[in-house]
Amino acid sequence: MTRIAVLGAGKIGEALLAGLLAAGRPASDLAFSERHPERSAELTERLGVASAGVEEAAAGADVVVVAVKPQDIAPVLAELKGALRPGTLVISLCAGLPTALFEGGLPDGTPVVRVMPNTPMLVGEAMSAVSGGAHATAEHLQVAQDMLAAVGRVVSVPEAQQDAVTALSGSGPAYFFYLVEAMIDAGILLGLPRAVAADLIVQSAYGAAVMLRESGDHPVLLREAVTSPAGTTIAAIRELERHGVRAALIDAIEAARDRSVELGRTVQQR
Ligand SMILES: NC(=O)c1ccc[n+]([C@@H]2O[C@H](COP(=O)([O-])OP(=O)(O)OC[C@H]3O[C@@H](n4cnc5c(N)ncnc54)[C@H](OP(=O)(O)O)[C@@H]3O)[C@@H](O)[C@H]2O)c1
Repeated sequence: MTRIAVLGAGKIGEALLAGLLAAGRPASDLAFSERHPERSAELTERLGVASAGVEEAAAGADVVVVAVKPQDIAPVLAELKGALRPGTLVISLCAGLPTALFEGGLPDGTPVVRVMPNTPMLVGEAMSAVSGGAHATAEHLQVAQDMLAAVGRVVSVPEAQQDAVTALSGSGPAYFFYLVEAMIDAGILLGLPRAVAADLIVQSAYGAAVMLRESGDHPVLLREAVTSPAGTTIAAIRELERHGVRAALIDAIEAARDRSVELGRTVQQR
């Protein structure tokens, strides 16, 4: 069995631990490291997973998952450097940090896999993209993919595409939350109680997402199927086109990609 140590059990670290346990990993194969003793004790009680210092957790692991904020990475790398056993796989969930940064701070030849997850990991529905560093083999990538499959879906992309992934799926849930919020406002404008409008829209979003995922059909086909001649949907689509919603989304996601590149540079210069 692969022993996994999660360094930084905040929102994402905890979601990963919970997902691995729910997928049947025994708690004895897992460990985590957290800065605050109260948080550690509370997590151990809730999940049944032992906590340890960074060095101890890493020394006993086959896979070390780094889930601290990008700005907290330097002290973690310094502690990891002396503690990693040869061949231990390091999986980074840190947004914007390249595999080269880990490789430069860890023993020569350390295999590193970079992952961009997203917050639906909290409900076992993450979308994660993995990229291997210079010393990561296909087998290492597979270990990372198998681990992340416990908390959602996984794709593999070249590392150069990680800023695009960040803009699409990393920030993606926020765009949907924003759309849902706007559509609930529309329901209120039309005289519906807020709770009813929210129910209508949240279930419609969920149903549409399941249709997209389960059918695998192109979204255009699914939309055309509910767009009848001279009907209500086409009246709404005309307004969306008139307001440039498609162009706004493309521009928004391009801006998120540019910001991801910029943030990556800032973190690396620290
Ligand atoms: N949340 C998201 O939507 C999301 C999406 C994609 C990727 N990510 C990435 O996932 C990582 C974690 O994000 P998060 O939202 O889970 O952050 P978070 O809730 O702040 O969790 C990070 C945890 O790591 C702890 N920590 C920091 N330094 C440590 C150290 N030296 N030893 C042990 N524990 C340490 C922090 O403790 P303190 O409370 O003391 O700081 C905190 O509990 C980030 O790199 C982020 O870029 C997050």
